[in-house]
Parts: sequence; C-alpha cells; structure tokens
Amino acid sequence: MKGFDAGADGRAGATRAGAAVTVEHVSRVLGGRPVLAGVELEAKPGTLVTLIGRSGCGKTTLLRLIAGLDAPDGGSVLVDGVSPERARARTRMVFQEARLLPWKSVRDNVALERSDAETKRLARQALERVGLRGREHDWPRQLSGGERQRLALARALVSRPSLLLLDEPLGALDALTRLDMQLLIERIWKEEGFTALLVTHDVHEAVALGDVVVSIDAGQIALRLPVDLPRPRDRQSPAFNRIVSQVLDHLLNPQPGRRFEAESASPEPSSVASKTAEGIRQESQRLVVVASKPAGA
Ligand SMILES: Nc1ncnc2c1ncn2[C@@H]1O[C@H](COP(=O)(O)OP(=O)(O)OP(=O)(O)O)[C@@H](O)[C@H]1O
Ligand SMILES: [Mg+2]
Repeated sequence: MKGFDAGADGRAGATRAGAAVTVEHVSRVLGGRPVLAGVELEAKPGTLVTLIGRSGCGKTTLLRLIAGLDAPDGGSVLVDGVSPERARARTRMVFQEARLLPWKSVRDNVALERSDAETKRLARQALERVGLRGREHDWPRQLSGGERQRLALARALVSRPSLLLLDEPLGALDALTRLDMQLLIERIWKEEGFTALLVTHDVHEAVALGDVVVSIDAGQIALRLPVDLPRPRDRQSPAFNRIVSQVLDHLLNPQPGRRFEAESASPEPSSVASKTAEGIRQESQRLVVVASKPAGA
C-alpha cells in the first residue's frame, strides 16, 4: 500500500502538518451533571494521544468538543489557534460503529456526494491505504466488521485531515483484527503526519499507540503519561509492560481530587525485568502529584 502523494522526505502528506489542539479549563454540564470540570489538555502537532478512562467519564464528550460538534459551558478549545467550528474542514472523527451509508457502495461511502476526478483519485488512494482496493463496488453489508472500520477510516482520510479523532473505533473487533487495525492506524498516522486523539478502553492499546496516555477521572485529566518507547512497540518487552502496569495501577487506584502528571515513562529496561508489584507501586509514586479540585467542587 502506498501513501497519499508522498513528499520529498518519503513521508506522505509531509506538506500538511498536524493540528495543535489546546483545551483550557473546559467544563461541560450534561443532564445537570458536571461531566467535564476544568479539563486541560494539549496535543502537539503530529502527536498521537490516547485517551482512557471509565465508561461515562466524559471521553466522547471531550472528543465532541474538540470536533466542534458540541460547545463547552466554560473554558476554551482551540485547534490550530481557531475554534473547532472553524477548523472543522480539517478535522475528522471515526466512531465505534462505522456509520456507513448502506445504500452507497464502498467507493461512494468514501467519496460521498462528490464525484470530481480529484475526489475519486483520493478515494482510490484512501481505499488502497486501508487495504480495500478492489472492493470499491461492494456494499457495506458485504464487509466484515474490521473491513467496515477500515472503510470508515478511509472515509476520514480522504479529506486529508490535520486532526483525526478516533472514538473507540476498534471496540467491537476481535483481538487479531484489532491488532491489525492498531498497526494500520499507527502506520497511516506516521505517514500522514496528522494529529490523532484515540479513545480506547484497552490499556495495552493505549500504551502501544500513544505518544502520551491521558486519562479522565472526576471530570478532569487525571493522568498524563508520556510513552517514550520506539515504534512499533514491542508489547512483550518489560519496558512496555511496566508502563501498562503504571497506567493500570492509576486506573485501579484512582486518587479523588488529585491529578498525576508523569515526568517520563521511559524506563530503564535493565531495571524493569525484576520489578515486582511493590516496585511498580514505588515507580508510580515518582509521578508528580498536582493538587486539583474534584469535579463539581
Ligand atoms: N446528551 C446528553 N445528555 C445528558 N447526559 C449526557 C449526554 N451525553 C452524555 N451524557 C452523560 O455524560 C457522561 C459522559 O458521557 P460520555 O459519552 O462522554 O462518556 P464516555 O467516557 O465516552 O463513556 P463510554 O466509555 O461508555 O463511551 C455520561 O454520564 C453520559 O450519560
Ligand atoms: Mg464514549
């Protein structure tokens, strides 16, 4: 599979930089409840941020605000320095369910209503990127679950976004298909250069894909853990599993009203192999504890 119009440095889409996302003190009340209460988040251009947290903690709410599909009650969201509404042409979102149009062919799901030659060319490229070349004339119902998600990804890629928001796009897939999709997303992200925010419930997925793993708890960013490991990540390595343990430890032992910011999650591999649960716990304590108010306080 080839990239979109690879640039001189071989990196497809190299001329199109990823968007900078800045979320400042964002709050959102839904159904009379403060779902988000002072969220601070920054995604640097071209980075992949993974977002994790308990069901109902506000992950989709945050993504919708960044996509400009909803507006905050307080605080601000900026995408490349402008409002998400103004950046919408460069932002795409992929959902847990593929949201395909069943009455349109695979190709027309990607190209949608546009039939100009350039869109057709980009649609062909996007389908090739996700391994669906040759399936252009099939109907969505003829695709497997994984193929549908790949089609949804192609549809998002066709407009060459600078910001891609992925809301648990792999949640319904079996383990092997999920692994394939993770590698596909990582490869396309690297080649295209867009900024990506990926919501997942899977800690391994979050650590495998994220430059930074972020969690939301009690309406705020509760963990911000940089993952300084080479890609593609070796999921068997002690270093990888140590970071997984760190995230799990944080998720399983939430500290209400306190926010953790890790200075680094780049471990010394040699020191990791012998780490016990107690060792992992001690590592967790190296995280910088930042006082912050709980949601609604
Ligand atoms: N339109 C709405 N009206 C009222 N409450 C809402 C609305 N949308 C979301 N909520 C509530 O806001 C909270 C956060 O919802 P959100 O969908 O952001 O959670 P989530 O972290 O994405 O959860 P999941 O992992 O299950 O997808 C939930 O308690 C949900 O019930
Ligand atoms: Mg959600």
